[in-house]
Amino acid sequence: MTQDELRELKRARTDYPVHDLIANRWSPRAFSDRVPDRTVLASLFEAARWAPSSYNEQPWRFIVGVKGEGDTHERIVECLADVNRTWAPRAPVLMIAATRMYFSFNDRPNRHAFHDVGLCLGNLILQATSLGLHVHLMAGFDPERARTRFLIPAQFEPVVAGAIGYLGDPDQLPGPLRQKELAPRERRPLSEIVYSGEWGMALF
Ligand SMILES: Cc1cc2nc3c(=O)[nH]c(=O)nc-3n(C[C@H](O)[C@H](O)[C@H](O)COP(=O)(O)O)c2cc1C
Repeated sequence: MTQDELRELKRARTDYPVHDLIANRWSPRAFSDRVPDRTVLASLFEAARWAPSSYNEQPWRFIVGVKGEGDTHERIVECLADVNRTWAPRAPVLMIAATRMYFSFNDRPNRHAFHDVGLCLGNLILQATSLGLHVHLMAGFDPERARTRFLIPAQFEPVVAGAIGYLGDPDQLPGPLRQKELAPRERRPLSEIVYSGEWGMALF
């Protein structure tokens, strides 16, 4: 299968029109070895930086490892769950996103700290898509290992790891993962997730 055929297969089959950036985003496990340019990488985090956040706290922080530059990439790999270690180390860029759990202006708990880091990752992912890159987020990592390896302060919570890079060849993946890579993407219908009037009454 060519990369164009793979992109077509993975493109969201939407019931209503959406922006190409949204339809074309997906989470691959096969990445190529090509390392994104420094300025391209910076654009992703610039996009993240301009996300909205509760009280403009901007609770997000990132640890980023670029393959071949120092040992951060390797040390992030050491924090990944086994299931993700089968494919993610190949990605040229790995990251861990953390969020500040308390507002910096009054030290009260920030109930939206996880929400806001997710929102900012949404920006990052769409910016990546616009530049021909893919991002695959991973809950499968050890937050406490990340905390000790990278000296993450107590008021921050490591939230999610991520692999960033250009699309690779699905044939590089072990069998079951290759099958997932070549499967069309699925979503719940709008009728199951958007209600009006009362809970469970579909708007669309
Ligand atoms: C917070 C979060 C955690 C995830 N954790 C993992 C993970 O540990 N391993 C993995 O292979 N995929 C992980 N994923 C990817 C999801 O499985 C994927 O986004 C979902 O199946 C939808 O596929 P799509 O992104 O290609 O549309 C995670 C995604 C998110 C947003």
